[in-house]
Amino acid sequence: MMATPLLRSKAAKLLCVAAWLTLGPAPFGETTLKGTYADAFGVGVAVQAGQFENAAERELIQRHFGVLVAEYQMKADVIAPREGVYDWSAADAIVEYAQANGMRVRGHALVWHQSTPDWFLAGGDPAVIRARLETYVRDVVTRYRGRIFAWDVVNEAVSDGDGPYRDNAWFRATGPDYIDWAFRAARTADPDCLLFLNDYGTEREAKLGRLMGVVDDLRERGVPLDGIGHQFHLGPNQAVEGIHRALDAVAGVGLVSHVTELDVSAYNDPGSCYARDSGCLPELAGDAVSGFRAEQAHLYRAVFDAARDRPSVGAVLVWGLHDGRSWLNNFPVRRRPNHPLLFDRSLEAKPALRALLDRDYEP
Ligand code: XIL
Repeated sequence: MMATPLLRSKAAKLLCVAAWLTLGPAPFGETTLKGTYADAFGVGVAVQAGQFENAAERELIQRHFGVLVAEYQMKADVIAPREGVYDWSAADAIVEYAQANGMRVRGHALVWHQSTPDWFLAGGDPAVIRARLETYVRDVVTRYRGRIFAWDVVNEAVSDGDGPYRDNAWFRATGPDYIDWAFRAARTADPDCLLFLNDYGTEREAKLGRLMGVVDDLRERGVPLDGIGHQFHLGPNQAVEGIHRALDAVAGVGLVSHVTELDVSAYNDPGSCYARDSGCLPELAGDAVSGFRAEQAHLYRAVFDAARDRPSVGAVLVWGLHDGRSWLNNFPVRRRPNHPLLFDRSLEAKPALRALLDRDYEP
């Protein structure tokens, strides 16, 4: 008897599952993440230059990703530890690796209060600070002109409380002017590069409102802003509506969105954990880990679907290749194993990756 189409597709599914179980780390044949979403947006990953020494990691990076971003090696404290003294070694290695392998590079981040070396703001004179900032932005953006297609010019400038601007050391020294200076200097150094304001928590309505307030303000002052980076450091119970709302708000004012630092933490720690290390959740173990991985797969798929449905989204980047490398193993709690990425510690593909590659897969 001929198999009905339904049976045939069931049989095909079984074969896929069998292949999945037997083939191990690269169970998808020629199916890649960047290929799957190529018509819609670029798919990228945060890396450290040293990773290119590891053949297994290199293979996965090249197979699945078309965009690289430096996890920390393009931040000011690495590139310019002292005024006028530049260390380009790691940043160059990442850009050269990308070029050699046909990948694009997102720059991250010219100004971030957490990676600003002390010399930038020393003395407190706004005119001096402005000159230092403009020199730094000019030198970095010029070096990678034509090789970095988008820069996070200012990272995390939006307030978490009263706002709209975040009360950080830059803001205290210059008010919001530091943002304008950085964007204008970047535009002058590379007129073709896309310039982004990057922030976390845009999936939350109140933070998004403050962000859009900053966007309005910058545009009224004629600041050359092209796009918004949504970090999307997500966790359990994240409503998809928050993702849609953030992307739609940015499209609504005619700007591009990039999802810049996607990961899905296993922990929904309360604010007290971030503020004073109290009430942090205990390490996830046993069956709870596999339950989480299924939930996580749904959320990854929802974010990629949201991006695919919206022409305003130009790139989606995950914040690290595999769970063993994630910053979330040490934040907000030190040495608490987390499981936020698409590959596990042994470089095995997790359900989340499969959910992105195979529409029929039910995690
Ligand atoms: C983190 C990196 O992952 C760490 O390796 C580094 O030590 C600190 O910064 N938001 C950002 C990123 O914009 O730059 C941060 O990356 C994670 C939060």
